[in-house]
Amino acid sequence: MIRPFRRDEVAWAARQHAELMPGSAFAEIGTGFLECFYERFAASPHAVARVWEEDGRPAAVIAAVSDRPAFVRGLVGRHGARLALHAARALLRPGGLRLLARLRGYPGRAGDAPIVAEMIFITVAPGVRRRGVAHDLIRAVLEEYGRRGTARVHVTIERGNDAVRRVLESLGFARVRSFAFAGKEHDLLQLGTAPAAGGAP
Ligand SMILES: CC(C)(COP(=O)(O)OP(=O)(O)OC[C@H]1O[C@@H](n2cnc3c(N)ncnc32)[C@H](O)[C@@H]1OP(=O)(O)O)[C@@H](O)C(=O)NCCC(=O)NCCS
Repeated sequence: MIRPFRRDEVAWAARQHAELMPGSAFAEIGTGFLECFYERFAASPHAVARVWEEDGRPAAVIAAVSDRPAFVRGLVGRHGARLALHAARALLRPGGLRLLARLRGYPGRAGDAPIVAEMIFITVAPGVRRRGVAHDLIRAVLEEYGRRGTARVHVTIERGNDAVRRVLESLGFARVRSFAFAGKEHDLLQLGTAPAAGGAP
């Protein structure tokens, strides 16, 4: 069953994120840092977050935004101090500066237009994978985007993540461009009718 993500699931979502994506720079900063994001995903009117549960237990979560600039303003307004504290702690750890530097270069634009609607995180627990859970969660978010009148959606994926790539391509997403982020090659994928200025390199 798919339903909205709840505030009481923030700690679980951050923990699952850290466990399943240990190489992600956000996770390396710490689960407290991730929790700030998930709290906002649960509360913001500019977020679209859904959970897939089985037997009453959450096993997968998708976190997306329908208006990224507004979401980020709310995130910084509500959690800026906590985010800064977690970032400062990470900075003081060995390799901290390198870790935070890895966060630079995340795209804010696709061609000549700013990125507005964006799918940010998705994690599916290993025990329920390859059953179409990611596919169904992404489709649920796209349906909500449809209700909100969103014309164009973006998502950034790591090169080599064929599982998520196949799901996104089967739903109509196509690559707009590639870029390096957090020390790895990434692809920006887009779904929607507005022109993708810049084109794929
Ligand atoms: C990527 C992830 C979300 C996929 O979840 P999932 O629920 O197993 O995906 P689905 O069952 O919807 O899979 C859909 C498609 O991907 C394929 N697929 C699933 N896992 C795969 C794998 N490890 N390798 C190759 N293909 C895979 C399925 O065969 C299916 O293909 P089809 O549509 O042609 O039948 C999940 O593996 C995960 O949480 N990974 C860790 C976190 C992560 O990488 N998140 C994405 C960051 S952008």
